[in-house]
Amino acid sequence: MSHLLLTLALLALQACLCRGACVEVDSNTEAVENKGFKLGCISCKQRSEVPARAVVDWFFKSSDDYNFTHVYRYENNMPHITDERFFDRLAWKGSKNTEDLQDGSIYILNVTFNDTGIYNCTFTRTLVYPNYEFSNITNKTVNMKVVAELTRGWASILSEVMMYVSIIGLQVWLAIEMVYCYRKISAAGEEALRESAAEYLAIASESKDNCAAVQVAE
Ligand SMILES: *[C@@H]1O[C@H](CO)[C@@H](O)[C@H](O)[C@H]1NC(C)=O
Ligand SMILES: *[C@@H]1O[C@H](CO)[C@@H](O)[C@H](O)[C@H]1NC(C)=O
Ligand SMILES: *[C@@H]1O[C@H](CO)[C@@H](O)[C@H](O)[C@H]1NC(C)=O
Ligand SMILES: *[C@@H]1O[C@H](CO)[C@@H](O)[C@H](O)[C@H]1NC(C)=O
Ligand SMILES: *[C@@H]1O[C@H](CO)[C@@H](O)[C@H](O)[C@H]1NC(C)=O
Ligand SMILES: *[C@@H]1O[C@H](CO)[C@@H](O)[C@H](O)[C@H]1NC(C)=O
Repeated sequence: MSHLLLTLALLALQACLCRGACVEVDSNTEAVENKGFKLGCISCKQRSEVPARAVVDWFFKSSDDYNFTHVYRYENNMPHITDERFFDRLAWKGSKNTEDLQDGSIYILNVTFNDTGIYNCTFTRTLVYPNYEFSNITNKTVNMKVVAELTRGWASILSEVMMYVSIIGLQVWLAIEMVYCYRKISAAGEEALRESAAEYLAIASESKDNCAAVQVAE
């Protein structure tokens, strides 16, 4: 039974994907300071066979504001930025095709901490039937928060890790060196001891021969 359901679900999903169907994905909510950020807003058209026109509006309420302000409108392929805080900073990232406007996403070019707040996107879609028109308004909310640039953080984390790695590496190297030296020294000590003992014994037992040899050499 569950197998059948799964198969059906997969088939349905495949059918959707093959038709390039619209899926209403929620927007990301975490923006990085000084980077771009896409405010996502997708509103799928339920009746694909009916021609429609749509207008997309974006409203913004910063953490300091009491009310929403109208900041952006996209209508007849024309973008309008209607709030001076966003002049030159918003770009259209939605559908290119006005006939099939289902993606109303916009892009903030350079995010500042002042952009933190709630963004509302409103789709006003008018379905054009032969004898009448039908308007449907849907809205989406994106609660955006801004975080500091990550690159500096990563760089400092990396340098800290490198510092620990080099300290530990240095200590391991020191320890190895100490063990190595200790062994060498003690081995040399034993050798020296053995040698001197041997010499001593040799001198003691063969001193006469040595002396003779020395005398011959002279
Ligand atoms: C973004 O804005 C900040 C401060 O306003 C500025 O220092 C930075 O150069 C800008 N970055 C880009 C890519 O425009
Ligand atoms: C408006 O559109 C949304 C999705 O596009 C749909 O879920 C909703 O049922 C529609 N409302 C009406 C009144 O048709
Ligand atoms: C917010 O909107 C309400 C109703 O539209 C209005 O009475 C109020 O003055 C506004 N507040 C601010 C700070 O603009
Ligand atoms: C953020 O807002 C404050 C107060 O409104 C303003 O002084 C400041 O210049 C703004 N910063 C940016 C980067 O727009
Ligand atoms: C934005 O969305 C919030 C939460 O869904 C809602 O309370 C508010 O009325 C909306 N504002 C606008 C201008 O659409
Ligand atoms: C936004 O959507 C919510 C729920 O979908 C609805 O209650 C609210 O009235 C809508 N706001 C506007 C301005 O269309």
